[in-house]
Amino acid sequence: MNTFSEHLAYVTRTADSALEKCGFDHLVIASGIEKLRFLDDMPYPFKVNPQFKYWAPLIYNPNSWVAYTPGKKPVMVYFQPDDYWHVPPSAPQGDWVEHFDIRIIRDADEARENLPDPAHSAIIGESDAALDGVVPNNPADLLAYLHYHRAFKTPYELALMRKAQAKAVRGHRAAEAAFRAHGSEAQINAAFLAGAGHTDSDVPYNNIVALNENGATLHYQYKSFNKPTHHRSLLIDAGAEYHGYAADITRTHGNGFERFEQLIAAVDDEQQALCAQVKSGMDYRDLHLQCHLRLGGVLKSLGIVDMDPGSMLEKGLTSVFFPHGLGHPIGLQVHDVAGFSDEAGQLIPRPNGHPFLRMTRTLEPGMVVTIEPGLYFIPSLLAELKTRPEAKAVNWGAVEQLTPYGGVRIEDEVHCTEDEPENISRDAFAAL
Ligand code: GLY
Ligand code: MN
Ligand code: MN
Repeated sequence: MNTFSEHLAYVTRTADSALEKCGFDHLVIASGIEKLRFLDDMPYPFKVNPQFKYWAPLIYNPNSWVAYTPGKKPVMVYFQPDDYWHVPPSAPQGDWVEHFDIRIIRDADEARENLPDPAHSAIIGESDAALDGVVPNNPADLLAYLHYHRAFKTPYELALMRKAQAKAVRGHRAAEAAFRAHGSEAQINAAFLAGAGHTDSDVPYNNIVALNENGATLHYQYKSFNKPTHHRSLLIDAGAEYHGYAADITRTHGNGFERFEQLIAAVDDEQQALCAQVKSGMDYRDLHLQCHLRLGGVLKSLGIVDMDPGSMLEKGLTSVFFPHGLGHPIGLQVHDVAGFSDEAGQLIPRPNGHPFLRMTRTLEPGMVVTIEPGLYFIPSLLAELKTRPEAKAVNWGAVEQLTPYGGVRIEDEVHCTEDEPENISRDAFAAL
C-alpha cells in the first residue's frame, strides 16, 4: 500500500469514530483565510489550519475546505482564484489527489455549495473562515478526540518528519560555520535559512539565534546585526518544515572555555540518556522529573551547586537553572496538540511546581516528542535565588564565570516505537 493511502485510511478511521461518538454526519475543515494587518492591506504570512493539512499536504491554500462523510470519498474544495497580483495555488498535484473528489473554486464563497449540510456537520476552523451559513462550531469533544489520535504518527508522517529533520540539520551545520566565522546573530540566522532552504516567514517557528548571554533568554526573539567582541557561545534553536511537518532542533556551541564546554558535554550526555528512555509505557512527567535530577547531578558534579539532586529538586533549585519543560509532542505543529489530555479531553495534570511542562501523557508507539533539557544562567532568577537560604549551596564564582555564556540547551526529536527509540534528529546529523 502506498504510504499516503495508509495515512488517509488512519485519518478517515479516526474521523469516523469521532463523528459517531459526537453525533455528527459530516466533518468539514476550513484551511483558513489570509489576514490583513490592522488598518493595512498587507497580509500576515498565511498559516494553515493544522487539521486541514492533516488530510492533504497543502500549506499555502487559504479559502479551501475538506468535507468528509463516512463511507464517501472526501471532497477537497480547492480555491484557485484568477490573480495577477500573486501566484495562485497551482493545479492539485501529488499522491493525495486521486483520493479526493476535487472541486476547484475561483471565488471563496463558492465553497458553500460544495459543502454538506452545516446543521449536521462538525465544522473545524477559525471563526474568520466562516461563510454565510457555514460557521465553525469546533465541537470540543470531537476536537479532543481528533487531537488525541493525531499524536500517533503514521509511516507517511514519519517519513515527512525525517525529511524536515534533514533540512534543519543542513541549517544547523551552516549556522555553526557562521558562528565559527564570528558572524552576527543576523548572519548566523541567514546562514541557517540558506542551509535549511527556508525564508524567514516559512520556518515553523521564530528561530532563536542567541550569542553569549542572550542564550539565557529562553525565547530570545532578536537577531542582532552587531558582532560582539567575543563569540563565547551560540545557542541556536531553529527548525524546518517539510510538507507541513515541523523539526525543532537546538544545539549549543562554545569557544573552548573549559567549564562551558564541560557543561555542554554534560547536558548532552544527560539528554541522550533521556532520549534512550522514550519508550512505550514511560510517563513523560516522570521523565521530566528525572531530567531535573539528572541536571541537578550536572550542577553538582561541575561544582556549581553543592547539594544532592533530590534536595535541589525539592527546594526548587533545579528550576532556577532549568525553568522550562522537558519537551512536547511535535508533528504538524511544533507544539503539537494533545500533550495534556486523554481521548475525552480530560486534563492530565502537570506535576506540582512544573507549570511549563507541555506533555503529560504516557508514551506510546507512534508518538514523536522533543527532549530538550537545558541549564541557563538567568540573571532575574539568580537574583531571586540569592535571597533564599539555599543560596549558600551555590558556587557564585562559577555562576559569575558562566553567566556571560547564557546557557545550554540540546534538543532532538525522538520517535517512540514498539522497541528502541528512534532519534530522528541524531540520525539526520549522522547521515549528513
Ligand atoms: N523552539 C521552541 C521549543 O523548543 O519548544
Ligand atoms: Mn521544542
Ligand atoms: Mn526548540
